Amino acid sequence: MKIIIINGPNLNLLGKREPEVYGSETFEDYFSKLQFKFKDVELEYFQSNIEGELISKIQETGFSYDGIVLNAAAYTHTSVGIGDAVKAVETPVIEVHISNTHQREEFRHISYISRAAHGVILGFGLKSYDLAIESFLF
Ligand code: DQA
Repeated sequence: MKIIIINGPNLNLLGKREPEVYGSETFEDYFSKLQFKFKDVELEYFQSNIEGELISKIQETGFSYDGIVLNAAAYTHTSVGIGDAVKAVETPVIEVHISNTHQREEFRHISYISRAAHGVILGFGLKSYDLAIESFLF
């Protein structure tokens, strides 16, 4: 089972960025825990602050991997291009968010990804990623 986590802009700053919203753990530390927990899963991690790089990664993995866990971060609320890429690929994409975006500003209530996503998990902190990976195992 091959699963990739794709993180969008500013998620490279997890641990430092608004810890009251996103927690104080770095994604690298959390990713090591995921690798330990899901030993039988070939887990990969990619992060970019650049919209086109996220689209390219979705295209590159979206016909051969078993699952994509996508947190497009701020692009969730703006990017028709990422939404189209999710629609275009065959691999199921789970949209995740660390925070409950529906409890936050109005502009975060819109997602250009949900319509094409296989499922959406949000509001569980970093555990949202755990839950998304688990959803591929059943
Ligand atoms: C986020 C929510 C987005 O609104 C925000 O722009 C992010 C992170 C989340 O994981 O909660 O950068 O996707």
